[in-house]
Amino acid sequence: MKGIILAGGSATRLYPLSKAISKQIMPVYDKPMIYYPLSTLMLAGIREVLVISTPRDLPMFEELLGDGSRIGMKLSYKVQEVPNGLAQAFVLGKDFLNGEPGCLILGDNMFYGQHFGRMLKEAVATVESGKSKEESGGAVIFGYEVADPRAYGVVEFKEVTGYGLQVIGLEEKPAEPKSNYAVPGLYFYDETVCEKAANLQPSARGEYEITDLNKLYLAEGTLRVKLFSRGFAWLDTGNCDSLLEAGNFIATIQNRQGFYVSCIEEIAWRNGWISTEQLALLGKEMKTAYGRYLERLAAKGR
Ligand code: DAU
Repeated sequence: MKGIILAGGSATRLYPLSKAISKQIMPVYDKPMIYYPLSTLMLAGIREVLVISTPRDLPMFEELLGDGSRIGMKLSYKVQEVPNGLAQAFVLGKDFLNGEPGCLILGDNMFYGQHFGRMLKEAVATVESGKSKEESGGAVIFGYEVADPRAYGVVEFKEVTGYGLQVIGLEEKPAEPKSNYAVPGLYFYDETVCEKAANLQPSARGEYEITDLNKLYLAEGTLRVKLFSRGFAWLDTGNCDSLLEAGNFIATIQNRQGFYVSCIEEIAWRNGWISTEQLALLGKEMKTAYGRYLERLAAKGR
């Protein structure tokens, strides 16, 4: 499966911080924000990724991540001229996906928790399994309980014994949410996604909404929702407070355990995409605690 990171937008809620640089390149403790969504795709086993951003910011991501070969990946880049909606990722990413299934993650969404890799791989298998049976594999989205879901896409579902959860409704930023389950910015779609996205109409606020794309799968009866448990962290980086809190959270986990969160070089190595020698070399290039961490991993071995 291929992945798309949508890392554009103007992030006006972070002004003046984001006036001259992309929000998704800002530090979340010791690494640029985009490392976190990139690591999520890597945990899903996705090696081929398209990064979409603004004409101003895209070159910076290219400078940061290059063609991906250093971490055994293939990265490419595409400009989004106007930030007119998340579903546009599948209009801009049509050639890249080339009729195959795809995963979209928003460049400012961060996840951390046990069994995450397993959940991601299950989602990949679910949307891909339809393909082999010559039927639609549909879509997998996630639900995360929050105290106030009004700023998010919200999913309403009912439990169906033996078959998991059945989605009843989806709403984008509802004034009166029908559930407390927000939909995080991580979506898995089958190979019909680009065709569906191409036929969407802009919403009242003028955006091609990801929620409208998900509603097409819902109408087809192929939208599945998986829930993250309360022990799982889905972090927001929308304003200065949440950005600081996310950084503190990562620092707390890393300093307590000694394991780094969303270390893309480590994941590439554990996935078998780079050798132990390559990992050691990547570590050597960085004269920081991050570099020493990579060297320690390489010395310890898998
Ligand atoms: O974070 C999860 C939420 O993301 C979902 O629950 C909502 O259903 C979904 O609509 C989205 O809501 P947001 O209000 O967070 O969307 P926002 O417009 O802030 O865009 C999210 C990120 O995507 C942000 O970092 C900017 C980037 N973006 C946004 C748009 C509209 C783009 O790169 N291009 C765009 O066209």
